[in-house]
Formats: sequence, structure tokens, C-alpha cells
Amino acid sequence: MYFGVDYYPEHWDKSEWGEHIKLMKKANFNIVRIAEFAWGRLEPREDEFDFLWLDEIMEKLHEAGIKVILGTPTAAPPKWLVNKYDVLMRDRYGRKRGYGSRRECCSNSPDYRRRADIITEKMAERYGKHPAVAAWQIDNEFGCHASTRCYCENCRREFASALSKKYGSIGELNRRWGTVFWSQEYEDFDDVILPGYTSCEPENAQQWSHNPSLDMDFYRFSSDSWVRFEKSQADIIRKYSDRPITHNFMGHFSDIDYYKLAEPLDFVSWDNYVDNQWNHETYENSAMAHEIMRGAKNKNFWVMEEQAGPAGWDKFGGTPRPGQIRLWTYQAIAHGCDGMVYFRFKSAPFGMEQYWLGVIDYDGIPRRRYFEIQKTGEEIKRLASKFEGAVSETDVLIVKSYENTWSSKIKRNTENFDYRGILYDYYAANLAVGTDPACGPITAVSGGCKAVYAPAYSIVTDEEARILENYVSNGGTLVLTYRSGIRDEDNNMLRTTPPGALRLLTGIRLEEFDSSPVEVGVSDGFGRSRVWRDIISTETAHAIAVYEDEFYKGSPAVTVNTFGKGRVIYVACDLSGEGLLKLVRYITEQSGARYIEHPEGTEVIRRRAADGSEYTMLLNHNDKSVKTELRGVSLFDGSEFDGTLEPYGVEIIE
Ligand code: GLA
Ligand code: ZN
Repeated sequence: MYFGVDYYPEHWDKSEWGEHIKLMKKANFNIVRIAEFAWGRLEPREDEFDFLWLDEIMEKLHEAGIKVILGTPTAAPPKWLVNKYDVLMRDRYGRKRGYGSRRECCSNSPDYRRRADIITEKMAERYGKHPAVAAWQIDNEFGCHASTRCYCENCRREFASALSKKYGSIGELNRRWGTVFWSQEYEDFDDVILPGYTSCEPENAQQWSHNPSLDMDFYRFSSDSWVRFEKSQADIIRKYSDRPITHNFMGHFSDIDYYKLAEPLDFVSWDNYVDNQWNHETYENSAMAHEIMRGAKNKNFWVMEEQAGPAGWDKFGGTPRPGQIRLWTYQAIAHGCDGMVYFRFKSAPFGMEQYWLGVIDYDGIPRRRYFEIQKTGEEIKRLASKFEGAVSETDVLIVKSYENTWSSKIKRNTENFDYRGILYDYYAANLAVGTDPACGPITAVSGGCKAVYAPAYSIVTDEEARILENYVSNGGTLVLTYRSGIRDEDNNMLRTTPPGALRLLTGIRLEEFDSSPVEVGVSDGFGRSRVWRDIISTETAHAIAVYEDEFYKGSPAVTVNTFGKGRVIYVACDLSGEGLLKLVRYITEQSGARYIEHPEGTEVIRRRAADGSEYTMLLNHNDKSVKTELRGVSLFDGSEFDGTLEPYGVEIIE
């Protein structure tokens, strides 16, 4: 199993490289990721390339038995590129982005794309067969530091041509978008605007919304543009190299359709920062991000950047507590991580990321964090065959849809409606109950699932409805909620009664809804609803809970419908806390899904190794020790596990 670190040889004097490599070896690192921001050093002037320094460090690493993930450096354009070509993105006010950070180039700029392909080809040609290269990373975190949506003239032109391909005639676009509204009918594809600003004073004014179909197609187009940019590099690399290709994703980030971004890649990797200047992530949030990453390709993934110290850009987040870096490492593995790379090796005393500390400090001295990683590396070396290619035994799936994320961003439903939040609530409740759910696209729904949650699935295609019908007919349990089956693929409201294509499945129909800011009780211990209530009639379903307040008192709040051999639960309102837990427990029981009881603040995950053997990983995210009922023989040292987990402790038992 690969266990390594992100390394920036170009930041240090060559004379230090030897010492760095020595420390890496001692830390048990067997791989480093390099070069993903080194464009300026690799092509200091247009078409003048300097690969000698990279040859040298690759050779040194190779001699030391350390493999390399080679990054294409296109996230950080050198100054000459920006001086010579008009490649910078435009924001929705039409303003040009400034130079000085990174990721500032437009994925539809022909000059940027050409120069990006050239440097990629040069690297692929030179290193495609290099014995040290274990994998390629394309670019770095598409969407980081920038909107994924650019409003430049290149984008406008490309958008027009994408729309012309999609709709064939402008009349068809007008019809499907409903541009008759407010006299917005277009005469030609070239006439179509980008959904930029709609106010006079960009700085302070409110942005008035656009036609929701225009917005939706622009989200799709912008996401596709990055996929195309990525694929272009992947195609070039494959001409010269048979090594696997990845890109480092950003977990919950949703402005790019990660299912599509994963397609041209051999595996997905991602960057996991639990505690930084902006976020103190809950462990549930990190667990879920890992699962989303696994679901992006339905395949184990790598962590390409794992937090190794206090982290922030202009101020620090917290420092990882003793045991936490090891805990985060095993949490990743428990959710399907097959390769672990820490960010970064040596902390940079200069540059924007002075405050993003690495494995060793500015003075180069290994301390607590280094030693914790070293110990983790030792353990992983011994247990690698158990981890690599291991799979979770869960039979519960949470469906995430990027289209529905965008649709609910464009039209929010109501102040406190949050698509990501609903997914998270259902995920976290499942984690608490102990089903350890997977996350993935609706196409991951299969006979292997006992329970599938597809909350707030607003846009549902006929094909997607068929997938769900098949699954339920054959005995599956499906959970749908309010705001499901309300829109069509053009992001318009359905002209038929919701939940549209899901109506037969749910056995209910929507009559009215209430998103007034009131609290409404839900009977039978389901708690209170605060965000949204569908007021529904049952057709073939029966209610298992009703509203306790308001003019719809007594009408169904949660229903169950038998469909074929399975059942569909429709949750007509938002539930939280104990109410949601009760629902998830009920669904777990009804569906027969697997679960493991465990103390609060812990994860207990059953995994099957590639060799067929099974084991249980126990992760204690509490700063106190906890006692579990589980017993077994520790894979770490063969001792009898007595059920006690240390603060931030990890155990793996057979
Ligand atoms: C991101 C990037 C890295 C680095 C880290 C820390 O994840 O991929 O290059 O900037 O954040 O800031
Ligand atoms: Zn652009």
C-alpha cells in the first residue's frame, strides 16, 4: 500500500534533498507527489523547458526506492503565460480575475488549454515510462480558489455551441426554457447570454436571478468544461504512459459533477482537511466525504493530501491532538482509502501557505506529528494486505445527485432548505445507528442494497424512476422525502402532480405544502418539523405518522407504500435529532440492513479484505476513552481486545 507525502523539491536547495529523502524513508514513506505547481520552473519561458532538476530528484527518489505521483502543473500558470495571453477568468460582473494566487485560468481559453496540453505532453513524453512514476495527478483541485463558472467571451461562445448541439434549434431552446417569460426569447444561439450580473452596482447590489433553465445549463456546461480540460490531459498522458491517472477532488465540493470528473480517471483521490482555518469538521462529515469519494467511481480511492499539522491560509486552525492524525488515517482506510499521502513534507516558511504546516516544521526537525505518522506507517506496512482493496459490508446507500445540488442552489425552495444538509442528516443518522452507509449516484442502486435513501430528489428522469422501481419491486426499501419528483430536466416545475414519475412508487400525491417558519409536531415520536411540510393524500400508501399542528393536523407526515416485494417510505417533512434517528432505526429494521451498535462518537466498521478475510475497525473520535461491547484479537499486536478504546484510539479486531 502506498503511504507517502506531498513534496515540493523546487522549494528547497538541492543540498537539502538528501536529508529530506532520509527522513522520508525513516517515516516509512514509499511514495511522494511532486511537481503539481512547478510550471514556472519546468517552463521558465514559453517553449523553453528545464527538466534537469526534475530528472535529478526523480532519480534520487528512485534510488531510495520511493515512487512518484507526478502532477501536471497547470493549476499554477507562470507569469509569462498571463502576460502574453488573455487566459484569466472573468467573474459574473465581467471583471477579469487578478494574477497572484492560482487556478485563475479559464478552462475554455484556447491559449490556456493549448499551453496546458503542451506542458502535459512534454512531461508525459519524458517521464511516461520512468520507473519511479507510480501514477499521474492531473492539475490540482478543479474549483479551488475560484468559481468553476467563468463569464468570459470564450465561455460565452462555447456555451452557445454546446446549447446548439443540445437543442438543435433556438426555437426548441426557447420552448424548453420558457423564455417567453419576461420577453426573453432568443433569435439565435449566439444571442444567448451567460447568467452574469443583473444589477447596476456590482459591489453592493443584490443579484437578481436568471431563468432557472439557463442557470442549470450553465452549471452543466461549466462542470463539463473542467471534465473536458481534465480529459484532454488524460488522453495525452495515455499516449506515453500506462501508469494510472488521478485528480485530487475536494470531498463535499459540488460545483463539478464528480461522477463525470471521475470517468476519465483510473482512480479518484481527494484532499482531507478536518480542522483548518474555516472548518472544524465533524467526524461524520469526514466519513461522508470519504464515502462520496468512494462513490464517485464505485472504487477505492486515495487521500492525496491528509492533514498533518495546524492548517490555515491567514490564520491557523487547531493542531491535531495526539492520536488524531493516526485516527484520520484509519478513518480514511475504514471508508475505502487505498493510498495515503500527507500534506506536506516540510512546512514552507515562505509563500501563501506559511500557515499550512506539514509533517516536519520550518526548521526541519521531526517532532510529535512526524513520529505519529512514522508509527502509523509501520502499522500500515504490516497490515497493507488487509487494507488494500478491502470493501465495506454495508448494504445501505445514500444517493447524491449533482444535478439536484445545482437545482436547489439555483432555486432554494426555502430559507433553511439545504440539499447537502439533508443528505448529511440522513448520513449521520445512519452512522449513529451503525449501518455505515455508502454514498453514490442513483445508478449505484442495486440488488445488493437493503435500504436506499434518496432525499429531496427533485429532478428525476424516467430512466432513474425505472432504476428505483426495479430495485423496490425486487424487495428493496427506498426512502424518499419532500421535494422529490417536483422538477423536469430543464429545471422547470412539473406540469403533472408531484412526485411525478415517483407517484406510483410512493403511493401518495402532493396537494399543498407549507414552508412557513413554524414548528409542527409529528406524531409517534418523530419529533418536530421546522423547514418544510408536504400536505399529501395517500393513494396506496398508509401513514405511520401524522402532523399534530396547523390546518393540516392529522394529515400524513410519514407514509409507507408496498410496491412489488419492497416498500417505499415517503417522509413528507424534515425530521431531525431523535425523530430522525427513530425513522432510520425503523427503516434499518424493516429493511433488514446490517448495523453494528457502538458508543457515541465512535465508528465501528466491518470490512472484507481482498483475500476474503473479515475484520472490524473501531475508531474513537472522542477525546475520552470509551468502552465497547466488542471483543476480538487485535490485528495490531495479536492481544485480546478488552473493549477499551483510548482517546482518539483505533483498534482493528478479527
Ligand atoms: C489544497 C491544495 C494544496 C494546498 C492545500 C493546503 O488542498 O490542493 O495545494 O493548497 O490545500 O492549503
Ligand atoms: Zn471563461
